Amino acid sequence: MAKILVTGGTGFIGSHTIVDLIENGYEVISIDNFARSTTIALSGIEKITGKKIKNYTVDLKNFDETRAVFQENTDIDGIIHFAAYKAVGESVEEPLRYYENNMFGLINLLKCVQEFGVPNFVFSSSCTVYGNPDVIPVTENTAIKPAESPYGATKQMGEVVIKDFSKVANTNTILLRYFNPVGAHPSCLIGELPVGKPQNLVPAITQTAIGKLPKMWVHGSDYPTKDGSCVRDYIHVSDIAHAHTLAIQYLMDGKNETKCDVFNLGTGDGVSVLEAIHTFEEVSNLKLNYEIGPRRAGDVVAIYANNDAAVTKLGWKIKYGIKEMMDTAWKWELKLKQEADQIINN
Ligand code: WQD
Repeated sequence: MAKILVTGGTGFIGSHTIVDLIENGYEVISIDNFARSTTIALSGIEKITGKKIKNYTVDLKNFDETRAVFQENTDIDGIIHFAAYKAVGESVEEPLRYYENNMFGLINLLKCVQEFGVPNFVFSSSCTVYGNPDVIPVTENTAIKPAESPYGATKQMGEVVIKDFSKVANTNTILLRYFNPVGAHPSCLIGELPVGKPQNLVPAITQTAIGKLPKMWVHGSDYPTKDGSCVRDYIHVSDIAHAHTLAIQYLMDGKNETKCDVFNLGTGDGVSVLEAIHTFEEVSNLKLNYEIGPRRAGDVVAIYANNDAAVTKLGWKIKYGIKEMMDTAWKWELKLKQEADQIINN
């Protein structure tokens, strides 16, 4: 049974990917320092898969502690690296925190990959590497423009570091450029758990709808788009998760064309902020309390994917549409409230 190390394994995409890896016959261990997550995800993974995941509570910025994980696990067949900060707006306000966390963590990890000869490495990259694209949909060969945020810059630099590393290391790598991962596992046992006030659109919608937030703000409605609000390519987190399993298998089967293959992970459908809100209102049968506010620094105007490469080369088949994304996100928020109420009432 192949063994995969997932960094950021208790995070949103990491936890869903661990479920998918286990369901596809992989053994999984995790590194996560719970900076942006909780142990709730580990119990959810266990409930879904029946497997108890070993998580090493290690900060990748601590090289010695990171290296110790590899000394204890010398049989790692592949790594999927999620662990990073990922809020666009926050990165504009705290650039050094983002550069330190995302870059130091990656470089420490790659030093261990090199020392311990890990053969396969999948990187959690992002559509933010494209900056504000001139032409959409973007393909993997679309020109990389200046990042609109320090978060996007850490992903651009991360890709350069990995590409250069792959030229000298006995490691095959893949860069997965996610668009906007949203929704929750159909079981509602794992989902997005933003720590603090949600930065991303969908948790902001569901937390407003459930009453955790009094209202939400639409960051700008004067963009040159179909309805003035920003356009994104929202993709269900379970579809994103399965693409990671396919990427690892693609590398282990030796199908990679280069030592650093790149894939867009998006649906190819551009959805505006207002369209996303209206879809949520339709599936939840609720009226959302939102207000149009000023633009948010760091926001890209519009972006969505050409996903042909992932579909044809990885064999990726997208299962969920925007309605299921909103429906599972809402059901997850309802589940969280139900559990919170039970704790209060017991
Ligand atoms: C989407 C749109 C906001 C909150 C995300 C991830 C990033 C990367 C790319 C994976 C923007 C608007 C949001 C709110 C709003 N994914 N919005 N009100 O910035 O596209 O980045 O996808 O790597 O990691 O963060 O996503 O959900 O923050 O914003 O109007 O309360 O929703 O302005 O136009 P973003 P987001």
